[in-house]
Amino acid sequence: MKRDVCFLVLNGPNLNMTGTREPEIYGIQSLEKINRSLTDAASTIGISVEFYQSNHEGDLIDHIHAAKTEYEGIILNAGAFTHYSYAIRDAIAAAGVPTVEVHMSNVDAREDFRRTSVIAPVCIGTVSGFGSFSYHLALAALAELYKEE
Ligand code: DQA
Repeated sequence: MKRDVCFLVLNGPNLNMTGTREPEIYGIQSLEKINRSLTDAASTIGISVEFYQSNHEGDLIDHIHAAKTEYEGIILNAGAFTHYSYAIRDAIAAAGVPTVEVHMSNVDAREDFRRTSVIAPVCIGTVSGFGSFSYHLALAALAELYKEE
């Protein structure tokens, strides 16, 4: 691994409610707990992770822009913004930071509106349907990009 690799784990609207929100869909682990397990997993592969959650579109966009100079990758669960926010899509394209789209639920197996992702075309890939482990799979995928030749 290169040294000083740091990824931003960015969570969008309602994800602060993870653990109590529709637990049959999103599980019973809090976002804080998920984040702690990601910190542990990242440290075993020599990567740092930092976390931010917001319910506000502009706030998420500001963090995506800032990631350009601060992070080597973004693990992004944009929540419902995934399905309609062209502004978040444009921010990902503008920042040019490798971004993995994450969903805990299998969005393709749910309501029709969740089958559209307007951010997918500007992300390097999508992980969906593995509960909190979706974040870990995204971490592993991003880490692959930074492996020593
Ligand atoms: C979600 C799926 C979205 O459709 C939904 O709006 C969310 C969470 C997921 O993690 O499964 O808020 O991104």
